[in-house]
Amino acid sequence: MAILVTGGAGYIGSHTVKLLKDKGYDLIVLDNLVYGHQDIVEKLDVNFILGDLGDRPLLDQLFKDYDIEGVIHFAAYAYVEESMKNPAKYYQNNVVSTLNLLEAMESAGVRKMVFSSTCASYGVPEIIPIPETHPQNPINTYGYTKLVIEKMLADFQRAYGWEYVAFRYFNAAGADPDGIIGEDHHPETHLIPLILYTALGQRDSITIFGDDYNTPDGTCIRDYIHVSDLAQAHLLGLDYLLQGGKSEIFNLGNGNGFSVKEVIEASKKITQIDFNVVKGDRRAGDPPILVGSSDKARNILHWQPQYPDIETIIQHAWKWHQLRHGNH
Ligand SMILES: NC(=O)c1ccc[n+]([C@@H]2O[C@H](COP(=O)([O-])OP(=O)(O)OC[C@H]3O[C@@H](n4cnc5c(N)ncnc54)[C@H](O)[C@@H]3O)[C@@H](O)[C@H]2O)c1
Repeated sequence: MAILVTGGAGYIGSHTVKLLKDKGYDLIVLDNLVYGHQDIVEKLDVNFILGDLGDRPLLDQLFKDYDIEGVIHFAAYAYVEESMKNPAKYYQNNVVSTLNLLEAMESAGVRKMVFSSTCASYGVPEIIPIPETHPQNPINTYGYTKLVIEKMLADFQRAYGWEYVAFRYFNAAGADPDGIIGEDHHPETHLIPLILYTALGQRDSITIFGDDYNTPDGTCIRDYIHVSDLAQAHLLGLDYLLQGGKSEIFNLGNGNGFSVKEVIEASKKITQIDFNVVKGDRRAGDPPILVGSSDKARNILHWQPQYPDIETIIQHAWKWHQLRHGNH
């Protein structure tokens, strides 16, 4: 029996593929490589299918050729700003192509999915740390697309007897501790890699967007979760479903927030480089604090993040960035 991993050539997907492969799972990775990396899939040495989620004949063929018992669904577009400028692209790729996948699964009788949702589906939090029961009022199109997929999964459960796990990730960060794979988004919008590109001299400076928020040092606070801890959660979520677990939604975060200034200071300490930091205006739609409660994943899945401190997260990312980008 095999597991289909969509988006497995991307950042979080590749770390999960690495872990599942180490644990002996039979995997098929489907990715169109719009944002994924061929060399990373090659390094992981897995069964790779170059293809798009929107290609129904390809999906039907995959479910015919392989004995697939479940799907881990990472593939999506995830640029918040772009989703506001070009919502059609996001509804098409994230929602329509996911519906295509769900229909192909249903017609093949594959009814188990682990799905990558997001804390962006909550919108501006009313309570910190955010529990899974918090109202979902996304403030961007990207967040809406993920919320729609959560609703589709709930409907498929009710109507067709599916079981799924939806993980609402907070800020994925860090890299595999052995330095073989890591974060390589193009374009990059995440704080830690942008800081590290600055430390490597590939950017002139890092900008703090707003330092007058109502937080202890005035900068935004976010919940950073190590990508290998996310991978571990997917392993637990998959096993939970395969062992007959019922549908559940879980936050995945550290439960600890770090401010932009704290992340910059920790990065200066780890890289030992005093890179340029500049102050910019606040960005529209940035809540001051986004920190989640992951008690439910800890209690039900017995998930225990191994790398909760920000310095370890940055250290692992730095090791990867030096190997991947340091010599360019
Ligand atoms: N990175 C984060 O902090 C974060 C936070 C919350 C949620 N997420 C979600 O987690 C998932 C993975 O995020 P990531 O950071 O690894 O992104 P990523 O861009 O590195 O990975 C996504 C992968 O999906 C592939 N893909 C996209 N559309 C496809 C399609 N139609 N057919 C086939 N392949 C397709 C891309 O080529 C890419 O390899 C996404 O669904 C994202 O929305 C990420």
